[in-house]
Amino acid sequence: MPKPNPSRIRVNGGRLWDSIMRIAQIGPGAEGGSSRLALSDEDKQARDLFVAWCREADCRVTVDDMGNIFARREGCAPQLPPVLAGSHLDTQPHGGKFDGIYGVLAALEVVRALNDCGQETQAPLEIVVWTNEEGCRFAPAMLASGVFAGLFDKQFAWSRVDADGRSVRDELQRIDYFGDQSCGAHPIGALFEAHIEQGPILERDRDTIGVVTGAQGLRWYDIQVRGRDSHAGSTPMPGRRDALAAAAQLVLAVQDMARRHAPDAVGTVGELTVSPNSRNTIPGGADFTVDLRHPDDDTLAALDAALRKQCAEVAARCEVQVEVADIWHNPPLRFNPSCVDAVRAAAAHLQYRHQDMVSGAGHDACQVARIAPTAMIFVPCAGGVSHNEHESAEADDLEAGCNVLLHAMLETAGRA
Ligand code: GLV
Ligand code: MN
Ligand code: MN
Repeated sequence: MPKPNPSRIRVNGGRLWDSIMRIAQIGPGAEGGSSRLALSDEDKQARDLFVAWCREADCRVTVDDMGNIFARREGCAPQLPPVLAGSHLDTQPHGGKFDGIYGVLAALEVVRALNDCGQETQAPLEIVVWTNEEGCRFAPAMLASGVFAGLFDKQFAWSRVDADGRSVRDELQRIDYFGDQSCGAHPIGALFEAHIEQGPILERDRDTIGVVTGAQGLRWYDIQVRGRDSHAGSTPMPGRRDALAAAAQLVLAVQDMARRHAPDAVGTVGELTVSPNSRNTIPGGADFTVDLRHPDDDTLAALDAALRKQCAEVAARCEVQVEVADIWHNPPLRFNPSCVDAVRAAAAHLQYRHQDMVSGAGHDACQVARIAPTAMIFVPCAGGVSHNEHESAEADDLEAGCNVLLHAMLETAGRA
């Protein structure tokens, strides 16, 4: 095969699109998206297909004891730490076809495209799939990349349970992805993650590529409100200890505190469980989650203080007990300047319209960035909508992001 001119190498956008659509068929959602919760049977099927594709592309596959998958394309200098790219295959319960999956399959397409033209790299390239990015079945999110980065204790991660009491460790073993490598022991030279933006900025500005310079911080909580069950018909309004009415006030307080720190703060209550959940019993219990985010950690601390103050006030006013459990604090971060430069330079070389931006969502790359040079590439998604079955992205934009990924990886790994 004649030696390719490396600067002219391009990915195959049609093959990338077909692979994304094929994975989307595993755990299809009712409205055209995907429902593939972490470590479910569907997650296993998607992993198995991904591993088969990697072996077809001559990659050597290893799995660690958090279920993270590494598919290696050997470099001319195998002793160098590998340059990784990837994301996650799990989805939200009503997830789209692109969140996470794009980043995994874009990395696979980079390997396939380099195989097609016989381009070698100095450092090995690896495609990585991180376990339980979404955090909806097992909280917190980005669990296995967090263990990899030393941010979460492995015993803690293994012991996380879903709503039915099944643990991460048991589910890893059940689907046969409890690998023999110790999570965190895997060498890493750098990591790139391609992802849909999940926000409206690129589409609004008609830019194709987001050069992601960092990510905002977040805090997650579980809040328990305890009042008293009592009869809906015969209990006078004064003196009720209605846990749901108290929780409702706190839901609105979360909205209010985020609005007070506009435009950057966001606050969400995404889960609510009412007990006994009976039409004619005043609820004695209400449990809910809170997700607070801001690019600045001091403002995040102010939001945290405001949440605790509101909880105390509502508890006193409604004669209920409110307990706040901290689930997760992930401070804001900046990606590695050299990796960010490699992404920006690739976008410029390929003549794609691009802009620097900060990620609103959390990503596995945000965990790994604490221990290794890391950067991200965003592409637009329709209306900025994500965590929604109707999440959608243009094939041309996905291809462009994948070309940027290829050139950023080539630059970082070194051409042979
Ligand atoms: C991951 O999807 C997040 O919560 O940002
Ligand atoms: Mn994602
Ligand atoms: Mn997501």
